Amino acid sequence: MARMRKAVWAASVLAYASQTLAFGFPDCVNGPLANTTVCDTSDSPSARAKALIDMFTTDELVSNTNSGAPGVPRLGVPAYQSAEEALHGLATSPGINFASSGNFSFATSFPAPIHMSAAFDDLALLAVGDVISTEARAFSNANMGGLDYFTPNINPFRDPRWGRGQETPGEDPFRAAQYALNYVQGLQGGIDPPQLKIAATCKHLVGYDLENPPGTNRFVFNAVISQQDLASYYTQPFQSCVRDAQARSVMCSFNAVNGLPACADPFVLQTLLRGYLGFDEERWVVADCDAIEFLFDQRAFVPDFVHAAAVGMNAGTDIDCGTTFGDNLGAAIQMNLTNSSTLARALTRQYSSMIRLGYFDPPASQPYRQIGWSEVNTASAQQLALELAAEGLVLLKNLNDVLPLSTSKTGTLALIGPWTNATTQMQSNYAGPSPFLISPFAGAQAAGFSVVSALGTQINTDDTSGFAAALEAAMTSDVVVYAGGLDTSVEAEGMDRTTVTWPGNQLDLITQLAGLGKPLVVLQFGGGQLDDVDLKSNPNVSAIVWSGYPGQSGGTAIFNVLTGQTAPSGRLPVTQYPAAYVEQVPMTDMTLRPSASNPGRTYKWYTGVPTFEFGFGMSYTTFVPGFASTPKASYAIQALVAAAPRDAPLDRAVLDTFQVEVQNKGAVKSDFVALLFVNTTAGPPPFPNKELVSYARVKGVGPGSAATVKLPVTLGSVARTDENGNAWLYPGDYSLILDVPTRAMHSFRLTGTQTQITHWPAAPSS
Ligand SMILES: *[C@@H]1O[C@H](CO)[C@@H](O)[C@H](O)[C@H]1NC(C)=O
Ligand SMILES: *[C@@H]1O[C@H](CO)[C@@H](O)[C@H](O)[C@H]1NC(C)=O
Ligand SMILES: *[C@@H]1O[C@H](CO)[C@@H](O)[C@H](O)[C@H]1NC(C)=O
Ligand SMILES: *[C@@H]1O[C@H](CO)[C@@H](O)[C@H](O)[C@H]1NC(C)=O
Ligand SMILES: *[C@@H]1O[C@H](CO)[C@@H](O)[C@H](O)[C@H]1NC(C)=O
Ligand SMILES: *[C@@H]1O[C@H](CO)[C@@H](O)[C@H](O)[C@H]1NC(C)=O
Ligand SMILES: *[C@@H]1O[C@H](CO)[C@@H](O)[C@H](O)[C@H]1NC(C)=O
Repeated sequence: MARMRKAVWAASVLAYASQTLAFGFPDCVNGPLANTTVCDTSDSPSARAKALIDMFTTDELVSNTNSGAPGVPRLGVPAYQSAEEALHGLATSPGINFASSGNFSFATSFPAPIHMSAAFDDLALLAVGDVISTEARAFSNANMGGLDYFTPNINPFRDPRWGRGQETPGEDPFRAAQYALNYVQGLQGGIDPPQLKIAATCKHLVGYDLENPPGTNRFVFNAVISQQDLASYYTQPFQSCVRDAQARSVMCSFNAVNGLPACADPFVLQTLLRGYLGFDEERWVVADCDAIEFLFDQRAFVPDFVHAAAVGMNAGTDIDCGTTFGDNLGAAIQMNLTNSSTLARALTRQYSSMIRLGYFDPPASQPYRQIGWSEVNTASAQQLALELAAEGLVLLKNLNDVLPLSTSKTGTLALIGPWTNATTQMQSNYAGPSPFLISPFAGAQAAGFSVVSALGTQINTDDTSGFAAALEAAMTSDVVVYAGGLDTSVEAEGMDRTTVTWPGNQLDLITQLAGLGKPLVVLQFGGGQLDDVDLKSNPNVSAIVWSGYPGQSGGTAIFNVLTGQTAPSGRLPVTQYPAAYVEQVPMTDMTLRPSASNPGRTYKWYTGVPTFEFGFGMSYTTFVPGFASTPKASYAIQALVAAAPRDAPLDRAVLDTFQVEVQNKGAVKSDFVALLFVNTTAGPPPFPNKELVSYARVKGVGPGSAATVKLPVTLGSVARTDENGNAWLYPGDYSLILDVPTRAMHSFRLTGTQTQITHWPAAPSS
């Protein structure tokens, strides 16, 4: 069974990687399109796109519904590959052609999304998106890359076992929504700018957050999700990505939701996406790679590939990342299973965005068409990658202030473990060649330590033959740093974990190292969490630092933080559950609220005691945060609704902007991440523990100084969602909760009558 699942995944990767590669811009001056409407910059994007697609024959419509599209040579429409990846930097993918050496052989490689998310630094995310889109344009202008990218991955990291949690901003839908908003804005060059920089893709719509749990896999899984959870959790990041950030594209997911595969589900693709979220006719839906093919050969949802193609197209999938559309839509039209106007609609949507990307416009008039190699891997891009790598590190334990380490006072530092010489390991997945990769070992040396190193053990092995050398190295040193945890050999696309304990014998080695009684720092890597309970309670484990996947400057960032050159300031973007969690709820249970068979998911609903809480993260200094002025004691619901701007959705209207002051009463200059939660007993039970409603990173607060930060909270953030998916403002008691653990609280009331602020569409009865 496991063997079969692996084979399926391998086949899928192969199909994806072997698609044709082709680039180049249409010639609107001398080519056959010159003087046609699509080249007329004074016309609207949709009129231009429609005029272009009207010229396509049925065969040309059919062949261009694949992601590897041949174009239309007789019209001078170039071939186009729309499968590009840029999860945290330009990544190896069918649509990016890295040179083997020299110019265009690499691009900036930022930390993995889970790591960047831990920084809670939205301005930096905006800047990351901007760097990536600049580098993408440089590749495009050299005919080495396309203009649309399958990023960001914003499925909430619901279960700690998920192999692709590393690709996401974590478990909290508000955090993921803000991540999407800022990252997409950086990628696309603004919120719905007239000229797009590149096109972003919100993925995967919807409810995709497992790979291969026992008994099923992502290609055939049916996620049973209540409308309440769909509205308030699973689609929250998509609401932001599609509606607020105006991403040009959405990817439908492999899984089914309540019986229908997402790429064949008119409720998801029409009612929710186009209807409720306002995904307009100038934006397109792409199927996850081979999801259309799998409608038949994995799911047997339809009798053959022809029906798979027709069902997907009719439901609202516009482009197939794969070849099932191109191979079968011709036959589907002949059999009257679909028609050419539906295909024309699909391509008009995609080409409307291509027009907004300037594809058919004179290059001389477009600043983005002037970007070249000199704008890739700039000093400021390198600095940003380093800054986010450091900001995303989370200090979980620091006994007796063993950190920061002093390079002058530390004689020898022993660096032990399977991440010691990590290079590409630091890049997580969906990465590409980077300008350099600074390993922890290189980072330690550059920081000025005299370093001895030993592997000790691998990520996931019972082999103890390296223990003796590791203990020997530790014994001869003054400080021991263990670098291990997870990597993509145990958490990956196609591979979930089955436990959240430290893999292999790493914990045995750490325990033996601890037995030496030397200062011992544990660097815990990986996108998923591990239960650190033993390390937390062991008095000889002096410090624990969580790192996701820190990217090209990982080693430098880690040692900048270990030595105090940069103070740690990241916060966990996920809950660190005790190991028993995985026995208490199957991965396939999509419910969030606690029940007899579920201890509750995420910090909002978990009824147990986490090893480390969502939002936890220590500092080298002593911060005292509090409300700068006493917030209001009550708000009238009807007045809030009446005062809300009419030109924006009601759930985006602001309840209030709270002023938080943070005083640095310690001795170290540091950033501070302000996290604001709300809890309530208003509306129907059960009530979540609390919910994140606002956050901000305050930069560089000096010793003895204070800084004030504004934290806006929307009506949507204090609303609660009913069983039909509608959000309501309920009168009753609320508390604002500042920081993790709680440092300040403020109670307020909502008064008046309960008021519905969103109108979730009715789901088809099953
Ligand atoms: C486009 O129109 C202009 C002006 O009418 C003409 O000079 C030019 O040859 C035309 N180009 C093509 C490719 O037909
Ligand atoms: C084709 O299908 C449509 C409905 O999708 C139907 O109205 C029409 O009669 C069919 N045409 C033929 C020739 O079967
Ligand atoms: C094509 O199919 C769609 C959806 O089934 C239908 O609404 C439309 O009328 C059809 N168009 C033509 C020209 O048959
Ligand atoms: C590489 O790019 C740089 C910066 O744009 C340029 O000066 C140089 O000529 C390029 N080298 C080659 C071999 O094209
Ligand atoms: C790490 O790399 C350095 C430099 O190449 C080497 O001396 C050291 O033995 C390596 N350590 C491990 C644990 O592989
Ligand atoms: C801690 O270190 C001391 C030596 O300093 C040792 O005696 C003790 O057993 C160690 N404790 C643990 C839990 O490893
Ligand atoms: C919010 O939680 C705190 C404890 O964490 C509690 O004291 C407070 O009463 C709660 N507020 C509401 C409105 O439930």
